[in-house]
Amino acid sequence: MYGMVNKAIEQMVVLEHGEAVWEEILEKSGVDVEVFVSTQGYPDQVTYALVQTAADVLHVSVAEILEAFGVHWVIRTAQEGYGDMMAGGGRTLSEFLVNLPNFHSRVAMIFPHLAPPQFLCGEVTERSVLMHYRSQREGLAPFAVGLFKGLGQMFSTPVTVEHTLQKAAGADHDEFLICW
Ligand code: HEM
Repeated sequence: MYGMVNKAIEQMVVLEHGEAVWEEILEKSGVDVEVFVSTQGYPDQVTYALVQTAADVLHVSVAEILEAFGVHWVIRTAQEGYGDMMAGGGRTLSEFLVNLPNFHSRVAMIFPHLAPPQFLCGEVTERSVLMHYRSQREGLAPFAVGLFKGLGQMFSTPVTVEHTLQKAAGADHDEFLICW
């Protein structure tokens, strides 16, 4: 994944736990990188190692780290670093979610080697969207949950997210019911 992902993990840990804790995580992870470059590609394994080690050091589950990272990604990484692009995604939560399947095609103009997630909307009602999520990567569903919650915060429209189909439990892909 692009270095901006690893940088964002670093930023979240430093903000919440301080520089020393990040240094400990980096060292214990075995990742031999001092400074992540946003626009450079790194093996996915680097990201997984950072997340796993952060979970070990902070005594929380990988799922908890990934969900917190999803919220952080929307509020700090995306909104602060790519405000115009986020604003172009929609004026309301519902609009943003309905447009989400196309979102990363714009991201790919800046990051041409992006291996993006695939989103597909199912039923849309006044107060909910059913979202299908497919990825070439494993285990990132909790990240998606955090992203949806972060979008809820961004639009001041708190959401509940129900994980209605779980690839980890043998389903073909992941599906979420996002309600507000
Ligand atoms: C301007 C805002 C955003 C930027 C710049 C961005 C960029 C990226 C980048 C660089 C990756 C790593 C993939 C790679 O390097 O190959 C990624 C992955 C991902 N993004 Fe975004 N993204 C943005 C917003 C969002 C939003 C709003 C969502 C969903 C609500 C989202 C969902 C995901 C997911 C789930 C992944 C994990 C990849 C996977 O599932 O395989 N992103 N994004």
